[in-house]
Amino acid sequence: MTDSLPDYRLAPNALQGRVIAISGAGDGLGRALSAAAAAHGAEIVLLGRSGAKLEAVHAEITAAGGVASAAVFDLEKALANDYDALTDALQRRYGRLDGLVHTATLLGTLAPIEQYDVPTWCRVLHVNLTAAFALTQVLLPLLRAAADASLVYSTCQIGRRGEAYWGAYGVSKFALEGLSQTLAAELANVSTVRVNTVNPGAMRTAVRRHAFPYEDASRLAAPTARVAPYLWLLSAASRGITGQTFDAEPAPLPPPALPPTPTPG
Ligand SMILES: NC(=O)c1ccc[n+]([C@@H]2O[C@H](COP(=O)([O-])OP(=O)(O)OC[C@H]3O[C@@H](n4cnc5c(N)ncnc54)[C@H](OP(=O)(O)O)[C@@H]3O)[C@@H](O)[C@H]2O)c1
Repeated sequence: MTDSLPDYRLAPNALQGRVIAISGAGDGLGRALSAAAAAHGAEIVLLGRSGAKLEAVHAEITAAGGVASAAVFDLEKALANDYDALTDALQRRYGRLDGLVHTATLLGTLAPIEQYDVPTWCRVLHVNLTAAFALTQVLLPLLRAAADASLVYSTCQIGRRGEAYWGAYGVSKFALEGLSQTLAAELANVSTVRVNTVNPGAMRTAVRRHAFPYEDASRLAAPTARVAPYLWLLSAASRGITGQTFDAEPAPLPPPALPPTPTPG
């Protein structure tokens, strides 16, 4: 984990000419990142499971003068031929991918491991991990075809240090860190593709609302406030950086040291 954050500031056109695919683009962080990356000049491939949500993001981007295309892609239901069809379509249209960001996620339930529902476990691991792996695998040739492509997985604090009751969601985030490091090591000396993870931190989105239905969401950051490390990792500014983890907000300060215990006598 990074204690002090890199300087994520970028020039307004830092992503000009880059084609970037974003999963979970219909809502939350994925939506905010899609709009921000388009505003920095990238052409965005919006991936999501709701056509209506993708249309809304597409309209927002084009209204602001950006460029995007959209594909409905349900990570829970997609089969091998759906992955192949997506890859063929991107190959024909762009011939390469300069970036791939995974933000799509399923929370599942918060429950002790001892009582965790097995079908829910399988769904969450499938959407959050297996589908992210499969999407990465089919799109890797397109990423390799770009000059310096960047692959980013979205993780979470509870995927770096286990906490009770986060079940399949927490375990899937640990696994994404492992997937990212494994792939980064495999590509390090044979490709310019860089692979990293970002923990965006607590944000005012649907997944957070499901996890903490009674908290005051107005105190949380909007997802637009958490896109900076993603934009930086997608830009040339992060060339050569791979196998690392990043945070969108600084690590909390350690608790103050306790005063020394007086010794008797
Ligand atoms: N929010 C936080 O406090 C927080 C904290 C740490 C890490 N994160 C991470 O940040 C990332 C973005 O989450 P978020 O906060 O933006 O949550 P969000 O608003 O709930 O977004 C999750 C996205 O995943 C999509 N999705 C869910 N199931 C899918 C499926 N089967 N196929 C395709 N897409 C699917 C959702 O689509 P629909 O819109 O159709 O449901 C939605 O667009 C996640 O990886 C999350 O783990 C979030």
